[in-house]
Amino acid sequence: MFLSVCVLCLLALSPALGAPAKGPCARPRNKLLFISFDGFRWDYDRDVDTPNLDRMAEDGVKAAYVTPPYLTVTSPTHFTLLTGRYIENHGVIHNMWFNVSTQEKKQYYQTQFVDDYWDNGSLPIWITAQRQGLKAGSLHFPGTAATYQEEVVQVRQVEPFLYDHNNETDWRLNVDRVMGDWFGRQDLDLVTLYFGEPDGTGHKYGPETPERRAAVRQVDRTVGYIRHAARSHGLADRLNVIITADHGMTTVRRGAGVNEIVLADIPGFSFRDVKFHLVDYGPSGMLLPRDGLLEKVYRALKGGHPNLHVYKKEDMPARLHFSKHPRILPIILWADPGYVINGFLPLQFNKGEHGFDNELMEMKPFFRAAGPDFLRGLLVGGFETVNIYPLMCHLLGITPEINDGSLDVTRHMLVHSDSVCETTAGESLGWRVMVGLSAVAGFLVLTFVVMTTWSKCRRDRESSSLDQPTEDQEKQTSL
Ligand SMILES: *[C@@H]1O[C@H](CO)[C@@H](O)[C@H](O)[C@H]1NC(C)=O
Ligand SMILES: *[C@@H]1O[C@H](CO)[C@@H](O)[C@H](O)[C@H]1NC(C)=O
Ligand SMILES: *[C@@H]1O[C@H](CO)[C@@H](O)[C@H](O)[C@H]1NC(C)=O
Ligand SMILES: [Zn+2]
Repeated sequence: MFLSVCVLCLLALSPALGAPAKGPCARPRNKLLFISFDGFRWDYDRDVDTPNLDRMAEDGVKAAYVTPPYLTVTSPTHFTLLTGRYIENHGVIHNMWFNVSTQEKKQYYQTQFVDDYWDNGSLPIWITAQRQGLKAGSLHFPGTAATYQEEVVQVRQVEPFLYDHNNETDWRLNVDRVMGDWFGRQDLDLVTLYFGEPDGTGHKYGPETPERRAAVRQVDRTVGYIRHAARSHGLADRLNVIITADHGMTTVRRGAGVNEIVLADIPGFSFRDVKFHLVDYGPSGMLLPRDGLLEKVYRALKGGHPNLHVYKKEDMPARLHFSKHPRILPIILWADPGYVINGFLPLQFNKGEHGFDNELMEMKPFFRAAGPDFLRGLLVGGFETVNIYPLMCHLLGITPEINDGSLDVTRHMLVHSDSVCETTAGESLGWRVMVGLSAVAGFLVLTFVVMTTWSKCRRDRESSSLDQPTEDQEKQTSL
């Protein structure tokens, strides 16, 4: 154990032996384009030709899949991408804003403009980048319209109400604006870019349909267009591009033989016992029972339908990280794959849905990354999307806010994967902490070397030649 601690000491010591902030590992800061194609499931490239996504994988990194946070819906999971925090920690717990006293609800689009819904203690990466001297922009990305601690993302385009999210001509105009004007003329360092497909088509027709496959072809053409635009604007060798999504999609089961979940039909349950409810929104729901009726409502619903899961907030499985925030209501419901939760009548008609348990493979999005800082032709396993935020901060050379991810999960994707490069952000706090740690580490190494040398000498003297070198002693020679 002591030995492994000391290996760490040496690793920590190495930057101090190198040079200050502009050390041998300091590299130029490249620009970063972070793209989300809403609802692009990890395996959507398996039943469609995707030459541009395939070329991007050859030129960079492809993950088998990524795991979004629970609840697997758009605004919450995108805010996790922007902050590296689980949903219970960033507070954007649903696509819809609601007030349990007034019963008021706001849909996805209106909720984009409720500042204090988004600004709940976690800063999106744009604001952090701007505070550290970088220039950031965002086009249509969820969270773009809000103000965070009195700051907004400096360059932004918010979609109009009832925007047509699948017009390919418009997609290209947006790409041209980002490449030519934002990265080019305005010299931004970071841009987040959002496309509403293949989510829209996945909901409308279902994920296993020719329509969804056509939407994936449109995404693929757009990826080709983006990479071509980067080259034609002379950005290719200083632009990292990460492409992922917020969640996946699964087919909703309907028709004869499907026992639909309708809460009002469950014996012993009554909406009269509930002060506020958020249901009829895919496979998830939340309830606030009236005073004193929590136990009654819970007992009625628990076991009330074979495909319905019912949890008290405090009993939610820890792996879902969807429990501790005050906005999460006391009773949480979720349905098995293929089912949606209806209140009074089965009036949801989407053929595809998301919002299910994030363990379900159908809920997992894709991930691609390419650019000067990424290794080429690397396939990696699945990882949680909370880890994308620290990766982006590292690429931009900025100090991250507190988050739930770790650079250790993604560092191996990078050309300069050694820890030294982490601190090229100049006189950052991180650098000073590293120097301090290195000094301590240096002292520990010295102590260790003296002690082991001394004890080894003593052992050599005391023991006979029958002694085999221990594993520790063997490793020690490699120091
Ligand atoms: C909900 O509405 C009540 C009454 O207008 C108000 O006092 C409360 O602050 C509101 N809560 C939220 C979360 O907006
Ligand atoms: C986050 O929102 C909750 C509930 O809406 C509120 O009580 C809390 O003060 C907010 N926290 C911050 C840091 O804004
Ligand atoms: C698509 O967008 C372009 C550019 O904004 C617009 O000119 C065109 O009318 C749109 N097409 C449709 C079918 O709405
Ligand atoms: Zn959706």
